[in-house]
Order: sequence, then structure tokens, then C-alpha cells
Amino acid sequence: MLLYGASGHAKVILSILKAMNQEVTGIFDDDPEKKEIHSIPVVGSYRADFLPNEPMIIAIGNNTIRRQLSGQIRHSFGTAVHPSAQIDTSAQISEGTVVMHGAIVQADARLGRHVILNTAATVDHDCVIGDFVHLAPGVTLCGSVSVGAHTLIGAGSVIAPNLTIGSRCLIASGSVVTTSIPDGAIVRGNPARIINRKSFRTL
Ligand SMILES: CC(C)(COP(=O)(O)OP(=O)(O)OC[C@H]1O[C@@H](n2cnc3c(N)ncnc32)[C@H](O)[C@@H]1OP(=O)(O)O)[C@@H](O)C(=O)NCCC(=O)NCCS
Repeated sequence: MLLYGASGHAKVILSILKAMNQEVTGIFDDDPEKKEIHSIPVVGSYRADFLPNEPMIIAIGNNTIRRQLSGQIRHSFGTAVHPSAQIDTSAQISEGTVVMHGAIVQADARLGRHVILNTAATVDHDCVIGDFVHLAPGVTLCGSVSVGAHTLIGAGSVIAPNLTIGSRCLIASGSVVTTSIPDGAIVRGNPARIINRKSFRTL
């Protein structure tokens, strides 16, 4: 397996792949200062001719950057699922997706491409998760929730059953979402309310 991005997020993916007994042969990163992570060499910027038959995982937490890179990469994409995660046999996980330590995916749930299901996050039955979504550590999705592409659901948030969360939303950490959320919305709190982007310093 190859990784793209020598970040903290990559360390967690390396931990998953080590637990899967899967060898990692190199990590691409544009930063020439980065030399290795946990003895895995950082091999420089992306090259399509570097071990071209090796699958890759994009180890970058930002959903937009992950999507942009996925369109430029020629390698095929692998998946990483930590052995401590519990994935029902009827659940579907698509290429590029990572499932971290202690996560749970229940019956008939579907995870799209390049999704991050972070540490101890749970996706209950019949949920549908779009491409490039990040469900941060400790997120709880109740049954039959739909999450649109590129949405970030922040750490520890809870989404009540049968709701639709739009695409490109930001659900602030610790939110309790009790109504469906339109595309592009930023929400926070319990119960979660839509907030103007200007309310936040970093957005
Ligand atoms: C939503 C978020 C991006 C806002 O970050 P920020 O721009 O640094 O926020 P600010 O410090 O400018 O805070 C602006 C206001 O929102 C409030 N606020 C910030 N985060 C909040 C949250 N998660 N829930 C409720 N209120 C929050 C602040 O208290 C502040 O309120 P005030 O104006 O009354 O003082 C951030 O809190 C967040 O939840 N990020 C997701 C983190 C995550 O889980 N990432 C995945 C990591 S693996």
C-alpha cells in the first residue's frame, strides 16, 4: 500500500495497516523536510510511475483536498479497516475509505469513496454516507441517516434517526442534530442550529 500525505492522520492509517499485516512501501508528500514516519520512507511528491500497481490511500483529513487529489492520482485506491472495528457483513465500504480503531458499521449501511470513519465512530443500520465524508472520532449516526458528499461531522456529534444531512455541511463538534440539515449548512449545539459562517474565527 502507498499513502499520500505524511500527516498525523497518516500515522493512524499506518497503525491500521500494521494491524492488518499490510506492508506500506512509501508515502508521498510535497514537503521535502518530511523524511519518514515510523520508519516508512516519505518518497517526495506524487509520481504516477512509482510502484504503479500498488494501491493507495489518500491520508489527508481535509475533505476538499482529498477529493481534489483523488482526481489526479493514477494509482488504484485501497481500503483500511482496523481489526477492532466491527463491520456487519451486509455493510458496504468503497475504495479509498478508512475505518479506524473501534468503529462500528451496522447492517446495510453504505460508506462511499474516500470516507474517513474515525476512531470509535458508529454508523447504524441503513445509513448512507456520501463520498469524501469525514465522521470524526466518537460520532454517532443513528439508523437510516443519510450524509451528503464532503460533509464533516465533528467529534462526538450525534445525529438522530432518519435524518438527511446535506452535502458540504460542517457539523461542529459535540452537536446533537434533531432535524435534517440543508446542503452547505454549518450547525452547532444541542439541539443543533444553523449558524452563519461569520460566527466562526477559522471559517
Ligand atoms: C466548528 C469549528 C470549526 C469552529 O472552530 P473555530 O472557528 O475555531 O471557532 P471559534 O473559536 O471562532 O468560535 C466561534 C464561536 O463558536 C463557538 N463554538 C466553537 N466551536 C463550537 C462547537 N463545537 N460547539 C458549539 N459552539 C462552538 C465558540 O464558543 C464561539 O462562541 P462565541 O462567539 O459565543 O464566543 C470547530 O469548533 C469544530 O467543531 N471543528 C470540528 C472539529 C473536529 O471534530 N474535527 C475532526 C478532527 S479528527
